[in-house]
Amino acid sequence: MIPYYPLKSICATYEPDLSMKIKDVIDSGRFLRGDANNEFAKQFCEFVGSKHFVGVGNGLDAIALILMSMKILYDWKDDNEVIVPAFTFIASAEGVARAGLTPVFCDIADDFLIDADTIEQHITPKTRAILTVHLYGKVCDMERINNLAKKFDLKVVEDAAQAHGATYKGKMAGSLADAAAFSFYPGKNLGALGDAGGVMTDDDNLAELTTALSNYGSKEKYHHEFQGINSRMDEIQAAVLIARLKHLSRENNRRQQIAKIYSSLISNKACKIPYKGDINSSVFHIYPLLCEKREKLANYLKDNGIETLCHYPAPLHLQPAYSNHKSKKFNISEQVAAMELSLPIHPLLSDEEARFVAEILNNFSY
Ligand SMILES: Cc1ncc(COP(=O)(O)O)c(C=O)c1O
Repeated sequence: MIPYYPLKSICATYEPDLSMKIKDVIDSGRFLRGDANNEFAKQFCEFVGSKHFVGVGNGLDAIALILMSMKILYDWKDDNEVIVPAFTFIASAEGVARAGLTPVFCDIADDFLIDADTIEQHITPKTRAILTVHLYGKVCDMERINNLAKKFDLKVVEDAAQAHGATYKGKMAGSLADAAAFSFYPGKNLGALGDAGGVMTDDDNLAELTTALSNYGSKEKYHHEFQGINSRMDEIQAAVLIARLKHLSRENNRRQQIAKIYSSLISNKACKIPYKGDINSSVFHIYPLLCEKREKLANYLKDNGIETLCHYPAPLHLQPAYSNHKSKKFNISEQVAAMELSLPIHPLLSDEEARFVAEILNNFSY
């Protein structure tokens, strides 16, 4: 069987460093807000090219904390709106809602990313920010989106949960807007051994406020200036991320090599392959294939020993949680949700396995 993502084997490649770093934390007797968090923040800021990193509990909280901070800094109200792609993992919209703001959905374009051409149609006097989700590992058209935001005096937040190490015009995801949210969920390109997330920004005030809000709204012990939450990256996860960060660029390159094999060998007319001719623009957190007979194809691949997943089977406006949006129509989001199938892509997948996947796929007919 070619597994979709063999996490246990992937973790084994970081040994013995991984276990030693965890042991160091245990031996230190400090499990929150300690040296490992400081060290990871320093290394990740250098890697991304940004000034501040605040380790938080998970990616959803990172989005929520950025927007909670902006709400306080810029005096936004509950009915203020944040534009979010209709096709993303649900946490993108939940982060907006958790901050007590209103998500407004926008369709995606053929590259699976928020459609810069249609964002403007969704801007109202209540709009305050645009959440750009670098879905599947490809960075959104940040230059156009930042220009649009400037014109309408909006903030731009990157949801970089799937884009660790992805670049855009020579800069890294996480350094391309007012602030960025990262998730280090175990299956991400840079994953922890549990939940973890982080906020990245060049803005001193935003970083200070996010730190306080993530720590019970407190800058000073037992003095609570704001109504905050408890969402901090623990020291063990920070140590795990230090152990993994030095491998990230090599692993992302390996993902791109596998994507090249898939994209050059898959020729089945029933399947549409992503980003033809533009492979290096993504770090391939996911390799998304589009097929009208998705279920049939998934079962056929499974019968041939290839595990696949679907990211994601429904756009956000058709999720029960957002049923107040269900009458809206976002054509591309709906089509991708009906057709997307994710092929195995990870640093341990060999060239032979990638070629085998492509060969089996090319023999699919219905
Ligand atoms: C695009 C996107 N945004 C946000 C999140 C939320 O991250 P977390 O699972 O760490 O809360 C995820 C991942 O799960 C994601 O893929």
